[in-house]
Amino acid sequence: FSAYSIIQKKRDKEKLSKDEISWFIDGLTKGEIADYQMSALLMAIYLNGMDIEETAALTDAMLYSGKVLNFPEQHFIDKHSTGGVGDKASFILAPIAAACGVKVPMIAGRGLGHTGGTIDKIESIPGFKTEISLEEFEKLLRERGVVLIGQTKEIAPADKKIYALRDVTGTVESIPLITASIMSKKLAEGAKGIVMDIKTGNGAFMSKLADAKKLAESIRKTGHRFDKNMMTMITDMSEPLGLAVGNSLEVIESIETLKGKGPKDLTDLSVALAGGMIYLAGLAKDLKEGIKKAQASIDDGSALEKFRELISNQGGDARVVDDYSLLPVTKTTFEVKSKKAGYVTKMECTELGKHCVRLGGGRQKTGDAVDFAVGFVMNKKIGDKVAKGETLMTIYCHDNQMKIAEEISELVTSRDITISASKPPKKKLIIDI
Ligand code: URA
Repeated sequence: FSAYSIIQKKRDKEKLSKDEISWFIDGLTKGEIADYQMSALLMAIYLNGMDIEETAALTDAMLYSGKVLNFPEQHFIDKHSTGGVGDKASFILAPIAAACGVKVPMIAGRGLGHTGGTIDKIESIPGFKTEISLEEFEKLLRERGVVLIGQTKEIAPADKKIYALRDVTGTVESIPLITASIMSKKLAEGAKGIVMDIKTGNGAFMSKLADAKKLAESIRKTGHRFDKNMMTMITDMSEPLGLAVGNSLEVIESIETLKGKGPKDLTDLSVALAGGMIYLAGLAKDLKEGIKKAQASIDDGSALEKFRELISNQGGDARVVDDYSLLPVTKTTFEVKSKKAGYVTKMECTELGKHCVRLGGGRQKTGDAVDFAVGFVMNKKIGDKVAKGETLMTIYCHDNQMKIAEEISELVTSRDITISASKPPKKKLIIDI
């Protein structure tokens, strides 16, 4: 094989063989295939797709690029999202599920395209380590019930490289690439069951419901092939989840939610996904009972305690739970004021996500440092009434970013947030299970 001929083949819409795919991924992992060759293949896959067999071969090649753990006990369950704006549900549902007796081996990603990443966000907590050895991973999981790391040199190393390239090459929105990326991590971490939050709407990678359903099916099939218990929920991503977007700001909102003071959509979704995990774990007779147990762990404070434990288990400063000033957040803010009165009816959610990246909350090219302190908080959500001059969102930026904040404000009021005379119909948060 040669990298050149495999790229050409996919460029010309031909089917790749299992051996070609595994040779390419193996070469990437060993450093024998250059990033620019991988990027070219990613774009060819993005444009020309992969069938079920190719997707399975890609997933397997990425999975076996590193070590594969296996916890066959039913109560080892994880969750993953296909990615959204303001999606910090993992910080809430992982401690909830752990507080309810689920073992949660979570391997998450960094920012991807216009979306933030769980691993970037959690690293805004001073000292928190997201790269730990496999022995430590297993020990923490068995003894403490929950562990949260990123792809490492040992686990899903091919995804680590591919993910970073996709982030900056416009090759994210692809069913085979998303399936292989997510499932290589989830299968490698060894959970027996996986709850998948499949996002749809204009802030999701699969903005159309029909595509989100196809992605859900692709992910479920991959899980079943490996004898995993799967639950997929298709959920709305047509506006940021909760109010906060940006690394530290999202950690703060997650802690508030664990304290029972979170925004309703974020609380409801986190509790539903955690309920699904509790059910798949065999610790509730149905989803409804799982949800009840999940809510109870917020109400009695046990989920918050688990989050505190999770932070200190991984070297982080758990005092952040009680003192948000320990988290980096800019002192300077800029309020985006509405130019019109009416109801918020629509948001360009992907564009909102890109504003956070532009402020430095995400990467423009691989290796960029992420600024934990910037982002924004929505003052209005879809369906809210707004007066002329009222604040729509509050941007958190550095003093030298005022011009950027002004430009963002102009785009938000003229393009990204639609205000109309009549109240829009209420939309469903969980569209399908
Ligand atoms: N999350 C992942 O881990 N990978 C993707 O491709 C999308 C979301």
